[in-house]
Order: sequence, then C-alpha cells, then structure tokens
Amino acid sequence: MARHTVCRLKDLPVGKIVPANAGRARIVLSRTETGEVKAFAGRCPHQGAHLEFGCISDLTQAERPNEVSVDKSCSVLRCPWHGFEFSLATGQAVVADDRGHFLKLRRYNVEIDGDDVVVVT
Ligand code: FES
Repeated sequence: MARHTVCRLKDLPVGKIVPANAGRARIVLSRTETGEVKAFAGRCPHQGAHLEFGCISDLTQAERPNEVSVDKSCSVLRCPWHGFEFSLATGQAVVADDRGHFLKLRRYNVEIDGDDVVVVT
C-alpha cells in the first residue's frame, strides 16, 4: 500500500468534485456535509467517463411519471455521460444497469493528517 498526499482539506469544498492524482491513479474526491472525505477512482465503471466532470447532488427518485422526490439523506455522484448515480457512502450505483448489475466505483481509504488529505492506494 502507498500513501499519497493529494490535496489540502481546505481545498475540498462540501458538495464539489475535486480531481487529483494518487500516484499513477486519477481519482476524484468529495467532502460530505458531515465533513467526511470520500475518494473514488476517476473513471466510471459503466463506459469509462471522467467522473471529475460529473456532479454531486441529493438522490432523486420517481415512483411515477412527472413526480420526483429528493432524498437529502443520500448524496450521490452523478456520471456526466449517462447519468448513473453512485452513493457517496458506498460507491454503489443506486439503480442496476441494463443487465441487472449494480455497478460500483472503486473506493480508496482516506486519512486526514493535519490539513493534508492522504489517499491510500
Ligand atoms: S459512462 Fe458513466 S454512466 Fe455511462
């Protein structure tokens, strides 16, 4: 395992995606409302989009056409290409793909060392 200081904690605004390099791996970081820092591989497991161009939002759900509800208890990272949403808590897609599989982002462990954000690969 290798430890990489990838940025400063002050450079991670809540609710934004921040790209970084952890060794040779391109990753994306996000800071949650509770202050937790999440790190994921930078490419989408669906078709490889660069997730740094995605966005963070609350989970939206629809039981019927023209009715959308927002679940503020679940933040997701939305892929910029086809809109798959991945839970920030687990990295797992909130809906299955067309083959019935739940795609999952590769997660990295994060340590906070003073003001440094350290990612373990
Ligand atoms: S490449 Fe990410 S949803 Fe398709």
